[in-house]
Amino acid sequence: MKEEKNTDIFPKHFFWGASTASHQVEGNNENNWTVWELEHAHELARTAHRRLSWMPTWNKVKDRAEEPQNYISGAGVDHYNRYEEDFDILKQLNLNAFRFSIEWSRIEPSEGKWNEEEFAHYKSYILALRDRKIEPFMNLWHWTVPKWFADKGGFEKKENIKYFERYVKKVSEKLIDDVEYVITLNEPNIYTTFSYFLGEWPPQHKSPFLAYKVYKNLIRAHKASYDVLKAAKPRIQVGAAPNLVNIQAKRPHSFFDEMTTQVMRTSWNWWFLKKIKKHQDFIGLNYYFTDYYTGIGKRLNPKIPVNDVGFYMEPEGIYPIMLRTWSRFKKPIFISENGLADENDQFRRWWLEETMVAMERALSEGVDLRGYLHWSLLDNFEWSSGWWPKFGLVAIDRENGMKRTIRPSAKWFAGVLKDIQK
Ligand code: BGC
Repeated sequence: MKEEKNTDIFPKHFFWGASTASHQVEGNNENNWTVWELEHAHELARTAHRRLSWMPTWNKVKDRAEEPQNYISGAGVDHYNRYEEDFDILKQLNLNAFRFSIEWSRIEPSEGKWNEEEFAHYKSYILALRDRKIEPFMNLWHWTVPKWFADKGGFEKKENIKYFERYVKKVSEKLIDDVEYVITLNEPNIYTTFSYFLGEWPPQHKSPFLAYKVYKNLIRAHKASYDVLKAAKPRIQVGAAPNLVNIQAKRPHSFFDEMTTQVMRTSWNWWFLKKIKKHQDFIGLNYYFTDYYTGIGKRLNPKIPVNDVGFYMEPEGIYPIMLRTWSRFKKPIFISENGLADENDQFRRWWLEETMVAMERALSEGVDLRGYLHWSLLDNFEWSSGWWPKFGLVAIDRENGMKRTIRPSAKWFAGVLKDIQK
């Protein structure tokens, strides 16, 4: 059957791209996460069965999840050295935008000591994107911090924000000449939840009080960064990228389900964005989840379909969350992350198709949507889950020379983009 696609809806200058994060792909980093990985790899492997055997994919991934080496980022996918090859793949996929993060621990490995070689590295990196006519979306913080900053208490302390601000100032002096879009912070809501509220990620300081404190300090850090960047280059576009969930009532007619839904939407989705309202030029929307809530605050999602890491998948849920974000803030939106763990590439094409339909719908209803950055370009290190989850448009064989193989869904996507961009 011949597919009919309306390709007129996406604006000519729409950004089509993919996202990554330094720690998940670069390799050979030395930061608070690398310390934690080495300390916890054995424990994570030992407890994998208890934590993960509920997943439908458990039998398939068990051997890898029970292997300590899985939990060590190590050589990454050697993106630090192979970035040119990876950018060529972006081109091959007809993508014209790329989101990456600067690894603070490379630039300032010890307090106040700046590594010029690393600045030069990121400079060449950005120019390599520009040479290929790929728009760089620079992210300043994707959860990892230098060890010395973690030792000082990281974002737990208000007085530490000055260090982050100083780092941003250095970046703005050295790296933003060729950059028009900057994301300050990635998913402050996920970070405070996992590192503090649940205490599962470094520094594992489990405390709701600390979670709240860190969240507030991240708001301060964002605002300070915004001011620094705008002072250095007034036309630069700055935003943050929170994790936004399509939160719905399990039973829309139930007063209690509705109430919980409203509370969850306000606290999870809007609180941070509201606080930084006057300090953002766009909103970076990271979408992975639709969650259905009951009155007692329990999540009750359909059992299928789920992806390899057990997340319930409702790609079209990006439509209501785009609409709500737009109607609340009236700021341009970039989908800064969106994707799924799908090693066999069983669902990715469907996910992309549904997402494109949702984006077309949102655009036709007046949402100022400017771009779509898929998570992720490459298979990568999925934090405390390690290496087995596969989020990449491109598969990577870490056992065999880090060989890159474009997944079929990505080939399909590239074909669609070719039509759209004609
Ligand atoms: C994060 C990524 C992560 C992805 C998939 C997002 O919340 O920003 O770093 O890999 O989700 O779980």
